[in-house]
Amino acid sequence: MIYLDNRFMEVALPIIEHQEYQPMKSIKHHDESVFDHSIKVAFYAYQIAYKYGLDWESTIRGALLHDFFLYKFKKTFSFRIITDSIKHAISHPIIAFENASKYFNLNQKEENIIKGHMFPFGFPKSKEAWIVSLVDKYIAVFEYSSNFKKMALRKEPVYNTK
Ligand SMILES: [Fe+2]
Ligand SMILES: [Fe+2]
Repeated sequence: MIYLDNRFMEVALPIIEHQEYQPMKSIKHHDESVFDHSIKVAFYAYQIAYKYGLDWESTIRGALLHDFFLYKFKKTFSFRIITDSIKHAISHPIIAFENASKYFNLNQKEENIIKGHMFPFGFPKSKEAWIVSLVDKYIAVFEYSSNFKKMALRKEPVYNTK
């Protein structure tokens, strides 16, 4: 459980409470929802950006929207998993940006935070974009390991295939 401070919430709330953002709660990602994952990435990236005097507002907004792709990425345990995963890695930042720009006014830094977060498939062009990309990967490792632990205990995949 993380405590989201007022400074973070002031920037995050207009996005988090937006009706188009709410469906992210029901889209499974790694071991949790895309909603929870994005808030976690945004909060940790914000803490680093704020500490080093960087543009923490763009960091929060870009990070909250970095996975705003709004579809369920189905993982199938077959040889296609590699090609499907690569396709998803390349396309979802572009889709996330297209969705985000429909509902929010984004600056260039926020655009690149979203489009560049899947390095090496995209390229972060600012310190803030690098922070979001690295925090995203760091958190994904924990979420994946938690998911695999559950799979091992249940002896069945925990991916939501609905
Ligand atoms: Fe992503
Ligand atoms: Fe992510």
